[in-house]
Amino acid sequence: MADEYKPPALPAPFNNTNPAPELLTQGAEGHLYKTFSLDPSIPAALKVRPSKPYRHPILDRRLTRQRIIQEARCLTKLIREGVSVPAVLALDWEGQGGDEAGWGGAWLMMEWIDGPVVRVVLEQWEAWMKKNASSLDAAQLEQENARVKALLRRIGKTIGGLHKAGVVHGDLTTSNIMLRLPTEDTEAETTPTGVSTQGEVVLIDFGLASQSAQDEDRAVDLYVLERAIGSTHPRSEPFMEELVHGYRESHRGATTTLKRLEDVRMRGRKRSMLG
Ligand SMILES: Nc1ncnc2c1ncn2[C@@H]1O[C@H](COP(=O)(O)OP(=O)(O)OP(=O)(O)O)[C@@H](O)[C@H]1O
Ligand SMILES: [Mg+2]
Repeated sequence: MADEYKPPALPAPFNNTNPAPELLTQGAEGHLYKTFSLDPSIPAALKVRPSKPYRHPILDRRLTRQRIIQEARCLTKLIREGVSVPAVLALDWEGQGGDEAGWGGAWLMMEWIDGPVVRVVLEQWEAWMKKNASSLDAAQLEQENARVKALLRRIGKTIGGLHKAGVVHGDLTTSNIMLRLPTEDTEAETTPTGVSTQGEVVLIDFGLASQSAQDEDRAVDLYVLERAIGSTHPRSEPFMEELVHGYRESHRGATTTLKRLEDVRMRGRKRSMLG
């Protein structure tokens, strides 16, 4: 269980802050903490990539460093281009901040996004609908579906903006898309499900991102997300065309990418037929 697990020691100065960083998730490559920037009232997300003891130290240092720099570079560029991603606050790619033994990892501190990941929003929505959809009248059902459709359309639009800026994400899933909670003066939705789909769509986790303007890379980005939605959110899958719609409206190059998406889908189908 999570409380049995002991994450690796944090690099300085994060081993010495009050309050201490709070471990949120532990992915394949890194650990995500909630901490603060300069002042405890300014929350920040801290991504730590510890060094991997089983890798050759020089290779390990190079890989860890490359990934964190790549991620920071993409985020910085995207902020500049007006794409909705967390701003970079600080980073250390040398990993010197640790104990005497030499820490060797790298970290990236970024703006804290206050809100849920889309995976949780869709999961909650689908769970409610599965249990209670039959209690809704036709108009309510329509309204509920419309909210999710609109969310997918906004996601498509944001991904379009990302691609337009010359970056492909490389790992688009609903866990890597967040909704920034709306400010207090926004009127809250009142819906039967009680699951809000409000908030600005924010893309996160650029650990596998790269700079590319190739239709193939862009189409694969969309295909990966399409497959992820198909397998984790079956009730939302029929609304995928809304995402495509939002994407199409986002920039001029979208049409050729979407043509390419048809090819990528075809290849995917062939591959799954061959088993
Ligand atoms: N800027 C942020 N603000 C708030 N929460 C965040 C932020 N960045 C990440 N998170 C939370 O932490 C989780 C993990 O972050 P992220 O997806 O970047 O790491 P990961 O999947 O472990 O990364 P990688 O695949 O690069 O190893 C996210 O799903 C999200 O819940
Ligand atoms: Mg992730």
